[in-house]
Amino acid sequence: MSIKTARFTISPLTSADREAFTAYRATEDTARYQGWEASYSLSDADELIAGQPASFPPPEDGWLQLAVHEGSVLVGDVAVHTTTQPNTYEVGVTVAPEHQRRGVGKEALGAVVAALFDQHKAHRVTAETDARNDAVGALLKSLGFVHEGRAREADFFKGEWVSLDSWAVLASDRR
Ligand SMILES: CC(C)(COP(=O)(O)OP(=O)(O)OC[C@H]1O[C@@H](n2cnc3c(N)ncnc32)[C@H](O)[C@@H]1OP(=O)(O)O)[C@@H](O)C(=O)NCCC(=O)NCCS
Repeated sequence: MSIKTARFTISPLTSADREAFTAYRATEDTARYQGWEASYSLSDADELIAGQPASFPPPEDGWLQLAVHEGSVLVGDVAVHTTTQPNTYEVGVTVAPEHQRRGVGKEALGAVVAALFDQHKAHRVTAETDARNDAVGALLKSLGFVHEGRAREADFFKGEWVSLDSWAVLASDRR
C-alpha cells in the first residue's frame, strides 16, 4: 500500500529505512514519551522491520509501522494497530526532530486516519499518550481527536508514575 499526500509518500517501513529510522529513534526527543530508549540500535530496527505484518490495516492485534518519505528522505513514521474491537484502530506517530513543527505529523497522520475511515470503514480511531506530551496533544486536537479522559498516574514508566491521556475520533464525528 502507499498513500500520497501533497508532500509525502506513506508506505510500510522497510529495511531501506533502517538507518534513518534508527537515527531519529535514538534521540531523547523521540524516546522520552515512548516505549523505547535513546539507546535504540540498528538491530532493534531490523527486528521491528522483520516482524512487520504484510497488510494494511494489519491483522487483528497487529501493529504496522508506516514510513513517511519526503522524496527519498525518511521524515517520520505513523504506526497503526488493529485492535480486537471491530473496525477500531489505534495510531501513534513520530517525526524526526529536525522535521518537527513543519506540519509533517498533521499531514501524514491525517492522511492515514482518513484512509482508515474512508477506505477501511473505521468506526473509531484512538490514541493513548503521555499526558506531559503537549506536542502530540496539540497534533491530535488539530486533527479532530476528542480528549476522552486522563488516567492519573496510571503507568509506571521509565522510573516514575505518569498519567495517560485517551483520545479518539469516531466516524460519526467526521460526518
Ligand atoms: C508529536 C509530534 C509527532 C508532532 O509532529 P509535528 O510534525 O512536529 O507536528 P505538526 O508540525 O504537524 O503540528 C501539528 C499541530 O501541533 C502543534 N504542535 C506541534 N508540536 C508542538 C509542541 N511542541 N508544542 C505545542 N504545539 C505543538 C502545531 O502547532 C500544530 O498545531 P496547528 O495544527 O493548530 O497549527 C512530534 O513532536 C514528535 O515526533 N514527538 C516525539 C515523538 C512522540 O512523542 N510521539 C507521540 C507518541 S504517540
